[in-house]
Amino acid sequence: MSRNISLTQYLVEQQREHGRITPPLRLLLETVARACKRIAISVNKGALGDVLGTAHTENVQGEVQKKLDVIANEVLIEANVWGGHLAAMASEEMDTISVVPDRYPQGEYLLLFDPLDGSSNIDVNVSIGTIFSVLRKVTNNRGVSEDDFLQPGKQQAAAGYCVYGPQTTLVLTVGDGVAMFTLDREMGSWVLTEDQVQVPADTKEFAINMSNMRHWAPPVKRYIDECLAGKEGARGKDFNMRWVASMVADVHRILTRGGVFMYPWDKREPEKLGKLRLLYEANPMSFLIEQAGGAATNGTQRILDIVPSKLHERVSVVLGSKNEVDRVTAYHREAA
Ligand code: AHG
Repeated sequence: MSRNISLTQYLVEQQREHGRITPPLRLLLETVARACKRIAISVNKGALGDVLGTAHTENVQGEVQKKLDVIANEVLIEANVWGGHLAAMASEEMDTISVVPDRYPQGEYLLLFDPLDGSSNIDVNVSIGTIFSVLRKVTNNRGVSEDDFLQPGKQQAAAGYCVYGPQTTLVLTVGDGVAMFTLDREMGSWVLTEDQVQVPADTKEFAINMSNMRHWAPPVKRYIDECLAGKEGARGKDFNMRWVASMVADVHRILTRGGVFMYPWDKREPEKLGKLRLLYEANPMSFLIEQAGGAATNGTQRILDIVPSKLHERVSVVLGSKNEVDRVTAYHREAA
């Protein structure tokens, strides 16, 4: 892989040669990438920057916010509000949407994000990340409302994440495959380090929080039981397990070497469709995984086809290596 292609060059080529993106979308993606650099600096400072611990506030889902959740949210809003490329933003950390104020020009795009995913890992120095999704405002109404955000994930114009780990890596799709950019800290620039990333169709690795096993639905339990049975069982091969509890880190591993990630519906809170958020987590990750040749379902339906009914909707998630996701989906169908 050439070390000379910057994010800017990649985006310019996507705009000029492939006609994939418009100039405002390019500006939007460069702005998000710049915001991620700022978040990376805060994450890196840790205790020295007084960014660890809780903010003593709760988000709309009643989760206690970490200081870095709040900081990352503010950085993304401040970076994007004035550029003229956006109509509004929505965040896992905000009750409702943030509309671009009248003093700035309004653009046609909508930006959605989980500013700091995996926040239980912040204080213990384990990989965390920022996940983002871009939609186009499709309605002709003058203002912007939450309804404008309720589009199925297949309508995303772009999606990606930045993982703050041993390296800081930005992973992006504009619908033309998946590219990875590593932050060169000395130069302050994003350098293309992987292009046309592919998730192998088969795998021997799964990621799920096993402590919830007793609460799972039968098809999920059947799939994991078969993986655990190894060579002697129905699958005839041994499986390995990994669970970071940061979706960005787990998905990054799957994009790098394959695997299946599951955060399924379970019986702990049966009225909730799942733990993860459709618009801020499942949709962008599903777009990336599909663009890399993998698959993503909620057990019965392709995630990117789901029409959201509310901003903070939750969803059951099975994504990664295509043959494994198809198997889990088939087990759900058989059980139904
Ligand atoms: P949060 O950002 O609130 O810490 O949530 C993280 C998400 C996701 O990134 C991860 O896969 C999952 O929650 C971990 O959940 P468990 O702690 O239940 O394993």
